[in-house]
Amino acid sequence: MSLSPPFNLKNPCLALMKHAVKLSQDGSPKDTRHYEIDLRHSGLTFEPGDSLAVLPTNCPNLVQDILNTQGWTGEEAVEDLSKKPSTLRDALIASCSLSAVDKKFLHAIVEKTGNAPELAKLLEPERKDQLEQHLHGREIIDFLIDFPDAKFQPQEFVSLCKKLLIRLYSISSSLKANPNSVHLTVATVRYHTFGRDRKGVASTFLAERVALHETVIPTFIKEGKGFRLPAPDDPTPIIMCGPGTGIAPFRSFLQERDATQAQGKAWLFFGEVSSRTDFFYQDEFNDYLQRGVLTKLTTAFSRDQAEKIYVQHRIAEAAQEIWEWLEAGAIFYICGDASRMAVDVDQALHTAVQQAGHKSPEEAAEYIEQLRKDKRYRRDVY
Ligand SMILES: Cc1cc2nc3c(=O)[nH]c(=O)nc-3n(C[C@H](O)[C@H](O)[C@H](O)COP(=O)(O)OP(=O)(O)OC[C@H]3O[C@@H](n4cnc5c(N)ncnc54)[C@H](O)[C@@H]3O)c2cc1C
Ligand SMILES: NC(=O)c1ccc[n+]([C@@H]2O[C@H](COP(=O)([O-])OP(=O)(O)OC[C@H]3O[C@@H](n4cnc5c(N)ncnc54)[C@H](OP(=O)(O)O)[C@@H]3O)[C@@H](O)[C@H]2O)c1
Repeated sequence: MSLSPPFNLKNPCLALMKHAVKLSQDGSPKDTRHYEIDLRHSGLTFEPGDSLAVLPTNCPNLVQDILNTQGWTGEEAVEDLSKKPSTLRDALIASCSLSAVDKKFLHAIVEKTGNAPELAKLLEPERKDQLEQHLHGREIIDFLIDFPDAKFQPQEFVSLCKKLLIRLYSISSSLKANPNSVHLTVATVRYHTFGRDRKGVASTFLAERVALHETVIPTFIKEGKGFRLPAPDDPTPIIMCGPGTGIAPFRSFLQERDATQAQGKAWLFFGEVSSRTDFFYQDEFNDYLQRGVLTKLTTAFSRDQAEKIYVQHRIAEAAQEIWEWLEAGAIFYICGDASRMAVDVDQALHTAVQQAGHKSPEEAAEYIEQLRKDKRYRRDVY
């Protein structure tokens, strides 16, 4: 049992969930939740902009399904992936990744069945892309079901798994406002592929296993490199762009700025699918607006009208004012989806600088590169 800091992967803080509430309202396609994890007597501290690392466990039903495919009881003695003695069930719950399919495991399937020519073909080095495509939406369980003749020894199977990894969550509270807890804003990952309901490991660990059963959450802090607020007496304006769960660090920023009576203007861009179902923390943000903690709040609800409206569309509409804030020294922060949103917001920012700043595309790119060098363009995307 870990009782004292410094906390890290080897010595995690074992915390309990204090409060959990669904932020997505009925009718939402999302299941985004707000969590408050108890920190009393833990010694765990953090700054706004930090992330919480969570060491999840796998869903026991998935583990049972895997045991069934091989006719195991789960009581078989094995060494887990940290070389610690364990039962097979406990190793599969806490040590092995059951989603990531390793090539070593696929080669073992081919060898054991002696009759998996299509899989063998996919493992040829020149078919890397085809293999990746084949693995999309598939997990270890799919191969155990599809190749029932591939029988493993318990230890052999454990050794063919990758290690279950931590997941990071941007902290959505400030210790100055909530000294006894750490808050998270987490989208629960669930999807259906190849005839099975799938669960994101850590987001459903928090939503289904921890929240209901008082399971401990092993955690530690991962410092947010450079994703930091200006000092409270620094009048530098800040622009925060955080659609979806990207809102998390900015709730932390606003709590901190409220508690420290920070100087300087603050502008928040938030986007989600619908204002009725997914306007997370709406009352808090309206209160910050009224009290001047937040200067401007701009929202983009993508499915409230026929055509999609995203945060980058709002950035384009507000190009002139964003330019003025940047010229006044503002820091621009982005948090959330890396693959689509952050790319499009980056493009919108370039266009805004180009149009409102009367610059060529090259000059706009140089301006933004300079912002980056000056640490005035900060990204926490995933
Ligand atoms: C610095 C940082 C901060 C973060 N902050 C937050 C935060 O504040 N809130 C938050 O919710 N998340 C945050 N994340 C993301 C978070 O760490 C996890 O990646 C996320 O919760 C999913 O983890 P999981 O274990 O639930 O899902 P996993 O078990 O990791 O499953 C996710 C994987 O499932 C697969 N998948 C998902 N959907 C489909 C589909 N439809 N079809 C096929 N395959 C699919 C994809 O391979 C995907 O990578 C952050 C990440 C980083 C790096
Ligand atoms: N790579 C993917 O295809 C994919 C898809 C979904 C989620 N995710 C991941 O799931 C996690 C949680 O997502 P989340 O719940 O935080 O929010 P999210 O899925 O990013 O959605 C938040 C809001 O952003 C909108 N959005 C979609 N594409 C956008 C774009 N290109 N630019 C700007 N906004 C865009 C969404 O609209 P609409 O949904 O109405 O389009 C929604 O209104 C993140 O890790 C994210 O990366 C990835």
